[in-house]
Amino acid sequence: MNVYDSSRMSDLMQEAYGLRIVDEPQDADVILMNTCSIREKAEDKVYSELGRYKQIKDKRPDLIIGVGGCVGQQEGDRIQKRAPYVDIVFGPQSYHRLPEMVNEVRRGRVRVTATDMPEIEKFDHLPQPKVTGMTGYVTIMEGCDKFCTFCIVPYTRGAEISRPAADILKECQALIDNGAKDISLLGQNVNGYLGEGIDGKEWGFTQLLYAVGALEGMQRLRFSTSHPMEMTTELAESFAEIPALMPYLHLPVQSGSNNTLKAMHRGHQREDYFKSIEELRLFTPDIALSSDFIVGFPGESDEDFAQTLDLVKRVGFDSAFCFKYSPRPGTPAAKAEDNVAEDVKDVRLQALLSLLREQSKTRMAQQIGKTLDVLIEKKSKNEGDLQGRTPDFRIVHFKGNPRLIGQTLAVTITESYAMSLRGELVIAA
Ligand code: 5AD
Ligand code: SF4
Repeated sequence: MNVYDSSRMSDLMQEAYGLRIVDEPQDADVILMNTCSIREKAEDKVYSELGRYKQIKDKRPDLIIGVGGCVGQQEGDRIQKRAPYVDIVFGPQSYHRLPEMVNEVRRGRVRVTATDMPEIEKFDHLPQPKVTGMTGYVTIMEGCDKFCTFCIVPYTRGAEISRPAADILKECQALIDNGAKDISLLGQNVNGYLGEGIDGKEWGFTQLLYAVGALEGMQRLRFSTSHPMEMTTELAESFAEIPALMPYLHLPVQSGSNNTLKAMHRGHQREDYFKSIEELRLFTPDIALSSDFIVGFPGESDEDFAQTLDLVKRVGFDSAFCFKYSPRPGTPAAKAEDNVAEDVKDVRLQALLSLLREQSKTRMAQQIGKTLDVLIEKKSKNEGDLQGRTPDFRIVHFKGNPRLIGQTLAVTITESYAMSLRGELVIAA
């Protein structure tokens, strides 16, 4: 979502001021940092990065520096207290006002802060998104009402708001017409979507998905991120029913222990997760699954962690993101003692990563011998090779002519690596 937000910011600045992206910060007239505050590390990076920009600004005082995203939202004026050379601080809900904020700075207002959460739809103020390569992104909802006890998102991104289906369909169609072949619907909890349908009634996520999947020219459709609490049989079934919906699902579970899940306020237990996976595999046996995990949540015992390893073994994931718990200011969990020792967190993280790495390797190796539809995206870094994606989002390298870029062709998989596959184009007789 941050990559998407950044691209919208650059589109906006291009439209308003004719600015274009440069490769090096020292060549820029405006530097905007889009930030994440989900974990502490990300936040620390903001200040170290800002230190570099200060040196540029010392030489070129006209340079405008902005800090946006969730750190901007959370820190607000504190950023400019610590780094007075920052001109603009803005949150994820107010970046559509960037041209106006830059204008204010240029007119001589020293500092601008925009961290309110306006009611208005920011999307109405953004230019039509561009297609970069084969892929397009469409935000369908933003914010989060779940309030998991470890998570800062509900405080920085605000409450869940869903865009009207008509706007989403229009934006998807425009992306397709401009050459997008792989479209992802984005939101903090996409399956919590509840928006105005084109029939004036309230639509849920599955209903929206069927409508988007039926758009003319829709080739590949994905969505991220889903919450286990809102997984339904209808949604599992839609993977089998909507031809464009690709067999890949990111479904963060965070922990395999019912005690920990409860303390995290996740709203589901391990049994619910197993049931969802069972249903998904009933309709789509080969679906690729990925997840997020947190180790070392306050109170997580050896037994709790063993339950996480057990869940991973039972489910079998294709890929996953694993994090050590870090307390975020203002969240309920931050009030509890961060009582799992750092070295214990490290040991658990390594154990989990190594199990997931093994699983991922096995799942990669199982692709050998299969013939898969590969959307050819670009030339590979290896001379003479092309690079594409399988329906379940694995990267494939193979020999081929660059004029094939943009086509979806059958490739037989011959080798597997940790992060990618190698194959051969099936040439039609
Ligand atoms: N500490 C560690 N990981 C976190 N995440 C969210 N908040 C925290 C935190 N305080 C992880 C969750 C989430 C992912 C985006 O980041 O696993 O799914
Ligand atoms: Fe954070 Fe939980 Fe909301 Fe996900 S569902 S954004 S983890 S509060």
